[in-house]
Amino acid sequence: MMALMNRRAALRLGLLATASVVTRPGLARSAAECRPTEPDTQGPFYLPGAPARIALAVPDEPGDRLVVRGRVLHPDCRTPLAGTLLDVWQADASGSYHGATEQYRLRGRLRTDSTGSWELTTIRPGNYRLGAGMRPAHLHFLVSHPAHPPLVTQLYFRGDPYLGPHDACGEACKSGDPHRVIGLGREEIMGREVFVGRFDVVLGAGA
Ligand SMILES: [Fe+2]
Repeated sequence: MMALMNRRAALRLGLLATASVVTRPGLARSAAECRPTEPDTQGPFYLPGAPARIALAVPDEPGDRLVVRGRVLHPDCRTPLAGTLLDVWQADASGSYHGATEQYRLRGRLRTDSTGSWELTTIRPGNYRLGAGMRPAHLHFLVSHPAHPPLVTQLYFRGDPYLGPHDACGEACKSGDPHRVIGLGREEIMGREVFVGRFDVVLGAGA
């Protein structure tokens, strides 16, 4: 039991290189709220070919540890979509992106399990300058399932001073969307405090 707990704790802190997805039940939106997750701009920093992994940050990556978990759901907001590919990329804690020559730092691809669940570990991204303004901290997602149109979107964090009308990306990024601005809780794992958030994705209907 202790070994299992230590392994899970290590996974959450990004101390192990590979892992299966941790399964947890998710909350579907109510019927009245059911609609596909809104797309967002892809931005200029996407790179194909990121490695398959759930730990986007290596153990010595600077920044606050962050665990994000959720589900990917059918357009009915209830049916889980197993085997969905999530391609995730983000800036580091100082707001810079990194590429293939840095082992795809802070990038990774992971798949949902049989319950549509996924979980990743990383660090909290920083804000970065765009033109004369600033962007709210965010994770980028490209979500792909063969029966549904691919979704390119971004995930934001509650309390960021650059959300919505203060986002240098303007209307194009829609960072005021309440379904994509998550609150973060905290968990203590192996004596280390980790931020934890949840992001459920609803894909659109196929052609
Ligand atoms: Fe970005």
